[in-house]
Amino acid sequence: MLSRQVAEALRKRETPYYFYDIDLLRQTLESVVSVARKYGFVIHYAIKANYDPHILEVIKEYGLGIDCASGGEMRCAIEAGFDPQGIVYAGVGKRDKEIRYAIEQGIFAINCESIQELGVVDAIAGELGKVQNIALRINPDIDPKTNKCIDTGQADSKFGISYEEVTEKLDFIRSLKHVKVSGIHLHIGSQIRELHVFEYLCAKVNSIVGHLTSLGLDFDFVDVGGGLGVNYDFPENEPVPNFASVFAIINSHLKVDGRPVHFEFGRAIVAQCGELITSVLFNKTTATGRKIVVVDASMTELIRPALYGSYHNIENITSQAKERERYTIVGTACESTDVFDEGITLPRTQRGDLLTIKSAGAYGMSMASRYNLHDLPGAVYSDEL
Ligand code: LLP
Repeated sequence: MLSRQVAEALRKRETPYYFYDIDLLRQTLESVVSVARKYGFVIHYAIKANYDPHILEVIKEYGLGIDCASGGEMRCAIEAGFDPQGIVYAGVGKRDKEIRYAIEQGIFAINCESIQELGVVDAIAGELGKVQNIALRINPDIDPKTNKCIDTGQADSKFGISYEEVTEKLDFIRSLKHVKVSGIHLHIGSQIRELHVFEYLCAKVNSIVGHLTSLGLDFDFVDVGGGLGVNYDFPENEPVPNFASVFAIINSHLKVDGRPVHFEFGRAIVAQCGELITSVLFNKTTATGRKIVVVDASMTELIRPALYGSYHNIENITSQAKERERYTIVGTACESTDVFDEGITLPRTQRGDLLTIKSAGAYGMSMASRYNLHDLPGAVYSDEL
């Protein structure tokens, strides 16, 4: 996170851009890796959270596998030097060429999300003369108690296969010659802060594993997905997420007969190390008295507030003013939802001040767009200042 010194160094750069605190990223990785080692858990980084090459380089040093959501993500991971043998690939809509690429690369598992997909993977693996390891992504029907836009685990969701369908189609699944069911996969949602949700997940997994085994379906590993949330309200209070708590819950509640347990964390690894740095362009006051600060970033650099109503803590890192005022912070895009925050109190803020929009390392840059033909934002790294 930003010290005054860093803020001074940042003043000279052209805004908006992402600033990454690489020390914090390393601390986070050390924490996740050391606690996971204690229990023998396997960690994949959900690359959709951030594809920045420097970030990937650092993550690679810590030996994490990768979780992908597309052929493009797989290619990015492999080109960045990650071992295909550590890659899992989920997604409700995999194109044939993406499935073919995954099989050719020999990835660890394709996490299949429909019975029809299993048949297609089988056919393509057959054409290639291979047997592909897959995991069945089962929808466990659990409420992850998070923003409904990022909830994936409830019965009506587009993600995963219902458990009923898996058991109904077991003969079909067993009949496939070029697909080996090597795992069970579940992912119930993102930004999960109520950790007891992971206890419900364990209970569901235990019953699924017990039942499938009694039906004679054997498999090697269980992948419980990602979803661990971060503290957006007070990032300084919790710069490194509480991996120890979630791992302790999983370790004490999950009963999978010694099978390796995999996780796919995105946000928890990269959210807190990234901040979006933006300059104030203009101040104005609406007819209703609302004080508006227009910054040079927008939803094209960070779409989370506009898309999900997400909160990001914002600070003015250059103002020396003693007086504080209430502001609405808006971006430059031609969209009414392009608002970073409303009614926040900051030191008097004016043209040229630098603001930081915190906890933006996950799903910030990776969701950036060129709407309004904005340039994509650049990146500045603490270890290159
Ligand atoms: N595994 C699967 C199968 C996923 O779909 C996801 C995220 C993850 C792992 C990683 O979840 P995480 O540990 O980051 O919570 N753009 C949204 C988040 C979308 C999450 C999509 N799937 C946001 O900005 O909040």
